[in-house]
Amino acid sequence: MEFIDHKLKPAKSDIKVLYYFEPASGISSEDAIGRIASESSSGTWTTLAELPKLLPKTKAYAYWHDKNHVKVTYPLLIFERGSIAGMMSGIGGNIYGMKAVDNLKLMDAELPQEYIKGFKGPVYGKDLIQKIFKRKEGPVTSVVPKPKIGYTSLEHAEKVAYAIWKGGMDCVKDDENLTDQPFNKFEDRVRYVAKFRDKAENETGDVKDAFLNVTSPNLRELERRVKLVHDHGFKYFMIDVVVSGFTAVQTAAELAHDYKMAIHGHRAMHAMMTRNPKHGVSMLYIAKLMRLIGVDQLHIGTVVGKLAGGKDEIVATKEMIMAQEVGEIHGLRMPQKWGRIKPMLPVASGGLHPGILPELLDIYGTMDLVLQVGGGTLGHPMGIEAGARSVMQAIEAYKEGVKLEDYAETHKELKVALEKWGHTKPR
Ligand code: 3PG
Ligand code: 3PG
Ligand code: MG
Repeated sequence: MEFIDHKLKPAKSDIKVLYYFEPASGISSEDAIGRIASESSSGTWTTLAELPKLLPKTKAYAYWHDKNHVKVTYPLLIFERGSIAGMMSGIGGNIYGMKAVDNLKLMDAELPQEYIKGFKGPVYGKDLIQKIFKRKEGPVTSVVPKPKIGYTSLEHAEKVAYAIWKGGMDCVKDDENLTDQPFNKFEDRVRYVAKFRDKAENETGDVKDAFLNVTSPNLRELERRVKLVHDHGFKYFMIDVVVSGFTAVQTAAELAHDYKMAIHGHRAMHAMMTRNPKHGVSMLYIAKLMRLIGVDQLHIGTVVGKLAGGKDEIVATKEMIMAQEVGEIHGLRMPQKWGRIKPMLPVASGGLHPGILPELLDIYGTMDLVLQVGGGTLGHPMGIEAGARSVMQAIEAYKEGVKLEDYAETHKELKVALEKWGHTKPR
């Protein structure tokens, strides 16, 4: 109860966290929220014989609570500046294992300017469309070779990447589970993809790039792989942000700033922690941390594609990563001011194909978006290059305000894609 104060007005420099919680049976709501505030800051399960003088300055307080939501405010003093791991070991740490709660979900946290100052944010973010691709309009388009795994590094570059670029797309993206396999060695992939990128750039006159997955067994190797990608002239690298961990992403962001590169963040494994509406952490909060650290573009869901994620959360997330200031949404989002941290682009990927792009673009718009289509390109009956073209045609049709079926009358690749998939939403 010493960690609850309903009258408290949090200080401007506090970190204010919104949790969803369910007390265990026999535990009152007040008891549960007191324990959440205590165990995540300076308390433990019992009273103590001796207390340091600083204690009053290190306590978190539950200061607002309404049914199953509670807001806890933390003094900035207790967190190491510039370390997400340092913060998450408190606000996302032991409290998840407490027998006093049956469920607990970190929905969002309002981060004060003082804390934000410890981070650099993205090198490019939203500006990458202009700075990397030298054009004013989005979306950035990309394709993941399918099957996910199985192409050799040469096939990956020559057969798939080259066809994708020739078909009009900007980028080829490694799949989340393609790293450094015996049949597709990372170094060979980087080398071959660079070679065919140069060929495609020369032939098309457009800027082409790749999201090469530097997800690594350790940080030294991560550093080596990022340098390799940089030395081959790429402006991007990709990292699986959740499996790699916060410290790896922070290291990657340092390297991105050194090399002036953009980071493509894939979120594989997030759903292990985000999908349960009652327990874990929200995808919105993971996205917030990634923008803060310095990821330039991150997968946040599609609504219409193959992966779970509701429209309300995705729209709230998209606003949060793109705007310099957002307001509160009850139970879902805290207010946030971003200061000088640049906006991070949303990546829509997972089960997309030409027939459902209009519905997706209604949600995202076409300007500030990375649009990625794997199976919906590689599955095209006329082949990979035609598949890429069909995706580009669907985007053109949408921008011109023409129905896909009408546009398909004069665009064969789109017509064939619509014949295969129609407007189905994959599951
Ligand atoms: C831990 O990190 O293991 C806990 O903080 C142990 O603390 P306790 O013994 O007071 O629960
Ligand atoms: C990704 O990593 O984004 C997915 O592999 C996309 O693939 P899909 O378009 O075939 O679902
Ligand atoms: Mg994938």
